[in-house]
Amino acid sequence: MEEYYWDTKLDYLKRTRDLYYNDDYIEFLVKFVWKLTKPVNIVDFGCGYGYLGHKLLPLLPDGSTYTGIDKGKHLISRGRELFHDTPYETTFIVSDMNEIEIERTYDIAVSHAFLLHMSEPKRILQKMMNSVVDGGKIICFEPHWISGMSSYYLDGYEQSQIVQLGMLQKLYEKDAKQTGKDGNIGAKLPQYLSDLGVKNIDCRVSDKVNYLNPDVNIKEKEGLFHSLKEDGVGDVPENKETYIASLVKRGVTLEEAQEQYDSVLLFAQSFHMNSSLVWAPGMKITFGEITSK
Ligand SMILES: C[S@@+](CC[C@H](N)C(=O)[O-])C[C@H]1O[C@@H](n2cnc3c(N)ncnc32)[C@H](O)[C@@H]1O
Repeated sequence: MEEYYWDTKLDYLKRTRDLYYNDDYIEFLVKFVWKLTKPVNIVDFGCGYGYLGHKLLPLLPDGSTYTGIDKGKHLISRGRELFHDTPYETTFIVSDMNEIEIERTYDIAVSHAFLLHMSEPKRILQKMMNSVVDGGKIICFEPHWISGMSSYYLDGYEQSQIVQLGMLQKLYEKDAKQTGKDGNIGAKLPQYLSDLGVKNIDCRVSDKVNYLNPDVNIKEKEGLFHSLKEDGVGDVPENKETYIASLVKRGVTLEEAQEQYDSVLLFAQSFHMNSSLVWAPGMKITFGEITSK
């Protein structure tokens, strides 16, 4: 039987999460924005190996708990292993979010880079809301791809040489229409939560701006370079004909697809360990309160 896709992506998940937030920013959100001063029970939808648990539990008051739910058996067993020798109370559950029913027992439902993979995100958001007690919170850390794509600077090149923003904008919109899965969902969540009746909605943007500095030594920047490569920055495009054909199939013109191929190829050929690259992923962090009042 073929292995579940995300179960093969543990290394990708472990090497890329640090590109999105500085630890002090997450601490700022917990302490000053969400003001979590009492123990809370958190449920993480599509938790992977428990990334959010790792980041949040050390910042939360003693007695807080973390429950991670994911379809990936391997990811979940890795999560159990990682928390095994820690003082934190954690539970990991293997389940398909489309099917699981979760009781209304949690104080906070969270997601990180999960809703973009759902073909009916509003249905899943409702499920997240239904898992939270009255007065609790929903917090979604989700991408806004076009914002990330507009936030590259590779020294020596105009942005328009390496990223075809207009084409990508159209492509993401067409993909979302065809599949329901939306890489720009981060920017839409404030409206979606409002439609579903969430109160006191607010939205922040991730703080991290990654700078690959050509003036620092290789040892210091190796980690960042490999994380960027793992996240697909400067990916070498596959076979030209296949690449172009797959873009045209997704709804862009032949000319746009060819230009996109040339840009991606140029980026791949120009990006190396000694490049000067600045990139901000621009994740959106949307949150609000579940209240019957
Ligand atoms: C990009 S990963 C993010 C994982 C984790 N939240 C993180 O940021 O490290 C997307 C996750 O969603 C999970 N996922 C996708 N579809 C799912 C479903 N129908 N039910 C449960 N989990 C699902 C995948 O298994 C994967 O772990």
